[in-house]
Amino acid sequence: MTPRGAGSPGALAVRLAHRIEAGGPLSVADWMAACLGDREHGYYVTRDPLGAAGDFTTAPEISQTFGELLGLWCVHAWTAMGAPAPVRLVELGPGRGTLMKDALRAARGAPGFLAAASVHLVETSPVLRRRQAETLAGATTGAPTGAAPAWHGRLEDVPDGPVLVLANEFFDALPVHQLVRVPGGWAERVVALDPAGAGAPRFRFALAPAPDPLAARVPPLLRGAPAGSLFETSPACEAVAREIGRRIARNDGAALIVDYGHAPSGLGETLQAVRAHRPAPVLDAPGEADLTAHVDFQVLAEAARSAGAEAFGPGTQGDVLVRLGIRERLQALLARADARQAADLVSGVRRLIADEEMGKLFKVLALTRPGRGAPAGFAP
Ligand SMILES: C[S@@+](CC[C@H](N)C(=O)[O-])C[C@H]1O[C@@H](n2cnc3c(N)ncnc32)[C@H](O)[C@@H]1O
Repeated sequence: MTPRGAGSPGALAVRLAHRIEAGGPLSVADWMAACLGDREHGYYVTRDPLGAAGDFTTAPEISQTFGELLGLWCVHAWTAMGAPAPVRLVELGPGRGTLMKDALRAARGAPGFLAAASVHLVETSPVLRRRQAETLAGATTGAPTGAAPAWHGRLEDVPDGPVLVLANEFFDALPVHQLVRVPGGWAERVVALDPAGAGAPRFRFALAPAPDPLAARVPPLLRGAPAGSLFETSPACEAVAREIGRRIARNDGAALIVDYGHAPSGLGETLQAVRAHRPAPVLDAPGEADLTAHVDFQVLAEAARSAGAEAFGPGTQGDVLVRLGIRERLQALLARADARQAADLVSGVRRLIADEEMGKLFKVLALTRPGRGAPAGFAP
């Protein structure tokens, strides 16, 4: 194996190979956590991956209407809470800060909201924190501190108080374990060194011995699945959903979680790697490709409920955005747009809501304090 310098492509592969040689194969969750979040070589730590020149794009980067509608959703939820001041406006995994910027601009029309809101960004990437600071420079004017947003490494570090939480494509970046149905029960899928890898390290999937303690996480209805079936489970996603639920129950609040995923819980592999807007092999080039897994919305909803929140949905992104008024917002923007802007606006909104684009694959889950009734976008 050829050692390479820190920061060069392959440096994380070498370190992961040493880790496996010393301690044995890694769970898929540990692999994912290292590839995305390694302090020195992790994917998110070393780059801004968004946009045409990056690896993928997201709803707020496609259309300003996305962040605007989520901002107005927050104003609506805050009003239903009795307009508490202060209120913590929290975004998990804010990317370039575009969603928050659009949300704050839209919320300016609501008297009192910006004066009550302090902005908290939960972000681990130093590169993206810098990008968010640039995007949001001046955008929080009117907030109680009148100053920059506050950054935190974890939701737990956001000060207590009523919260409004937004998360778009955050949960899909949290690590998942994979379990495979074998004759003796369920075995954890792990990442081992591929002995065929001469020179640069190569990795392969393997199975840890069954039964695995994580097997208790497979829902009863799925336990008798045929041999070879794969189940993904994310204690990390569950812990964040529980923390949101706990905050909402204790201090009041609401949350809107948008991601690609499913409900109810189901079988099947969804872990994928994306590089330069194309699928890539999951085990090649660790730290150089985005890794995501579909979000199990049933688990998120149950975790938040178990902590005392009420859950609504998930609805499809298309349905929820249409209910929130994306078509009306588009018409208002078109009235002031030139021909080229109009074409971009129409195609952006189409990408967000069309069934064959993001409209159906992406889901939206709302969390509120129990008894408050359906939040905007979720009324029956
Ligand atoms: C796919 S990007 C989504 C960005 C943004 N929400 C958007 O829609 O454009 C994932 C975001 O979550 C952040 N992130 C990933 N893992 C994280 C973690 N464990 N804690 C906090 N932020 C994390 C990334 O740095 C990035 O900002």
